[in-house]
Amino acid sequence: MTHHTAPHASPDTLSADDQSARFLNSPLAEDIAQVLITEQEIKARIAELGAQISADYQGKDPVLVGVLRGVFVFMADLVRHITIPISVDFIGITRYGPSTRTHGVVRLVKDLEIVIENRHVLFVEDVIDTGLSLRYILSGLETRQPASLRICALFNKPRIRLFDLDIAYTGFVLPDKFVVGYGLDYEERYRNLPFVGELNDSAITQQRLPPNAQS
Ligand code: IMP
Ligand code: MG
Repeated sequence: MTHHTAPHASPDTLSADDQSARFLNSPLAEDIAQVLITEQEIKARIAELGAQISADYQGKDPVLVGVLRGVFVFMADLVRHITIPISVDFIGITRYGPSTRTHGVVRLVKDLEIVIENRHVLFVEDVIDTGLSLRYILSGLETRQPASLRICALFNKPRIRLFDLDIAYTGFVLPDKFVVGYGLDYEERYRNLPFVGELNDSAITQQRLPPNAQS
């Protein structure tokens, strides 16, 4: 589900009845060329995902595992739509080396604190792009022998996927574009936008580096 006709997020196009209108006078909104997914659309879809997960994991006491930092916004909203007992834990990774999308090395910088052996693990991601980060993390989690291991991704960009990934729960399919908001950053900014949008060119050139995929 994508929204190419969605409104521009500049002050004249975030309408006053939009929930995101509190960003009307924000300098952040001026950097957004186009809103791809609105705050209301994200909220509605997360409610559906939470209901589905609650039904599927009934009686299983799953562990939700998120990768810092981008997932913190999605995780916080998702868990409040899950109505069964769950545990939540996070891991931290960093990608370094050649900064192109398909290269670079993934390194674990924060491990899980919960023991996942024989537990049902639901791996929660904000966005899956090439799948490189996820493949690295999943292979590490699998060696700990969880009872099951499935993936929930709010945003899925399947077009440039480098690996086959079976994603059990997908929020939205995105085109192969760099986006910000709802936890996703560019140079550590824009995570606090409640919608997802594309940056305009001046926002990208004013800041130092071109967008690239890193956690
Ligand atoms: P992958 O390893 O290529 O799948 O990249 C996944 C990670 O790259 C995500 O967890 C994000 O941190 C980052 N990423 C990928 N696409 C975007 C984007 O459009 N905006 C912001 N960050 C992104
Ligand atoms: Mg990032």
